[in-house]
This record gives sequence, structure tokens and C-alpha cells, in this order.
Amino acid sequence: MTGPATVVDVCAFDEMGDGEARRIDTHGHRLAVVRVGDAVYVIGDRCTHAEASLAEGEVDTDTLHIECWRHGSSFSLVTGEPDVPPATRPTPVYEAHVADGRVVVSLAAEGTEVSRG
Ligand code: FES
Repeated sequence: MTGPATVVDVCAFDEMGDGEARRIDTHGHRLAVVRVGDAVYVIGDRCTHAEASLAEGEVDTDTLHIECWRHGSSFSLVTGEPDVPPATRPTPVYEAHVADGRVVVSLAAEGTEVSRG
């Protein structure tokens, strides 16, 4: 049985540029918050291959992927899945939306994966 997810306000949406990624550490979670147009996506910031911050990688606003700067695996902002090795495991995906100009993220209990939808 899981408890209700913690909902946190992580930053102002308008502070972020289109295609910008930002690392946010909160409540024991390390998040990569990404703005694409009027949408916001939040995935786990830690690359599943080795230690790297995905928020420091390049965002592809057309394919909705973010590329790990260390070895080039590119993670879907929608599913968290990497496209090519060396990373093989997905990074968590968090439910996120914009409310009153703020980016609001729902953190799953115990850092488990949350699907968008
Ligand atoms: S650390 Fe990210 S692909 Fe290797």
C-alpha cells in the first residue's frame, strides 16, 4: 500500500526558457525539470548508466528527449526510456503540471516510478 504522493512547487514556469532543463533536489528526489513550449516534463535527473546529471544534457524539443552529456544515451521525457546504450534502464517519470505560473510535481512515495497520463 502506498501513501498519497507528496506534491511540491519546484520553480516558476516563466523563469524557464523553451528547451531549458533544470536540476531540482527536493524531498530526497533528484529531478530534471524540462520546459518545452507551454508544457513541462519532469524525470529523474540521475542517468541510469552512471553518475551524470541529465539536466546538464541537451534537450531535443522535437522528439522530447534529453541527451546524457557523458555517453550519449537520450532519455524520453514522456516515458523515461533511453533510446540507445550504454543506458538500458528507464529513469523515473513524475507527474507535473503548471498551476498559477508555478511548476508543480507529484513525487511518488519511496521514489517509485509514476506514469504520466
Ligand atoms: S552516464 Fe549517462 S550515458 Fe553514461
